[in-house]
Amino acid sequence: MSVPTTIRTATGADPAPSVRFPTGFGWGMATASYQIEGAVAEDGRTPSIWDTFSRVPGAVMNGDTGDVACDHYHRMADDVALLADLGATTYRFSVAWPRVRPDAGPVNPAGLAFYDRLVDELLAHDIAPWLTLYHWDLPQVLEDAGGWTNRDTAHRFVEYAISVHEALGDRVPTWTTLNEPWCSAFLGYSAGHHAPGRQEGAAGLVAGHHLLLAHGMAVQELRSRGADRLGLSLNLTVADPSDPADPVDVDAARRIDGLHNRFFLDPVFRGAYPADVLDDTAHLLWQDKPWYDVVRDGDLATTSTPIDVLGVNYYHGNEVSGHPRTDVVGIGADHPDRVSLSPFVGSEHVTFPSRGLPVTDMGWEIQPDGLHRLLRRLHDEYPRLPIHLTETGAAFDDRVDADGRVHDPDRIAFLDSYLRAVHRAIEEGVDVGGFFQWSFCDNFEWAFGYAKRFGLVHVDYETLQRTPKSSAHWYADVARTGVLPA
Ligand code: NOJ
Repeated sequence: MSVPTTIRTATGADPAPSVRFPTGFGWGMATASYQIEGAVAEDGRTPSIWDTFSRVPGAVMNGDTGDVACDHYHRMADDVALLADLGATTYRFSVAWPRVRPDAGPVNPAGLAFYDRLVDELLAHDIAPWLTLYHWDLPQVLEDAGGWTNRDTAHRFVEYAISVHEALGDRVPTWTTLNEPWCSAFLGYSAGHHAPGRQEGAAGLVAGHHLLLAHGMAVQELRSRGADRLGLSLNLTVADPSDPADPVDVDAARRIDGLHNRFFLDPVFRGAYPADVLDDTAHLLWQDKPWYDVVRDGDLATTSTPIDVLGVNYYHGNEVSGHPRTDVVGIGADHPDRVSLSPFVGSEHVTFPSRGLPVTDMGWEIQPDGLHRLLRRLHDEYPRLPIHLTETGAAFDDRVDADGRVHDPDRIAFLDSYLRAVHRAIEEGVDVGGFFQWSFCDNFEWAFGYAKRFGLVHVDYETLQRTPKSSAHWYADVARTGVLPA
């Protein structure tokens, strides 16, 4: 199923009036190193956990790897010129740890040089760089030593963060420590759907804590070195009980909210893990002790080191039931985002029933209203920090037409509705400074390989030719005018 091509407002009213975004609102596009760069063995780069995982039979659809990806490493200057043509005023990219400190060892100047050139190229095109330090490509050598379940990885992360900051701190205004630690922790260490592919229950919680610790330590270190715009990107959701009058559904929604949202928000903004999540997970052992024993005195003061901007990645909300259901959304039972969290949260069943909403090619429900409610909740329940939408977007089965163009009205309708949700929140007083569309170009979509296309720019993986889709031209107009047309 796909969305109706008529552009509708978040509430379904049609036609939607035009709306104007505040002056200075950031219009951007986002990517991540492993998903676009390729060149995995060049200039001293050594393997990351995704190089290893993508070679495990069955781990990634069609056996795809990031070996070539979009070949951005060799086409960077052309890609930046295209970003500028498409009206981007800001660009969010990530740095590959195994390029900068191969095998987590000494700094590799050749690896850093690529990002040095990228930043200069962006600035030459008046595009503000927004740098993410960790978008999932952990050096394999660190995973061999325990990965994020090993506290030492947090210290190695700080060393790496310092190296990048020393090279680029004079030109990059905004620094994101982590991208979506929920995925790194739970998809990587509990469910095994993402690298490193471990399925160890409590390991996800332990990894989550060490990721948050790494975040806090890096914020302290970079702040002491002069960085003044620091944050992290969390993938947050809304969890609505199937039947708000059914305590079983209400409890299931609370558990999902706890693990997905509050497990990350609370240590960052309140200096504590949520009490109900600790209760739910108290039975989970790590090295024969309650998992929470890995949390040392002072850790939560570190995780809650003040930041300057909260990055929100939002794609869809969830209806949640505590009953066994078969009418679930997502692509099959093993869909990485539909991972059953039941064993981790002490619940027999946690399912995500379909609400009958239109879905994208990922099987994700199109739910702009959830984005509005999420932004309001952050504003109402957490410290009022500037928020930036660091990701939203949609995969559709885009094809190049006979005329050589890619027509993707569904993506335009999606972006229009999500941007209207952001605009509504801004009108209500929520401080949202900008929007990064995921993604600049089609790329390696993790466990789905190249099968899912999220780009504004189509990539032909045979020729590596870039073709801006109709959504790219639409987005360029919105970025240039700051206005969503009626
Ligand atoms: C979130 C991740 O940060 C990004 O890497 C991924 O491709 C998109 N969501 C789409 O799944």
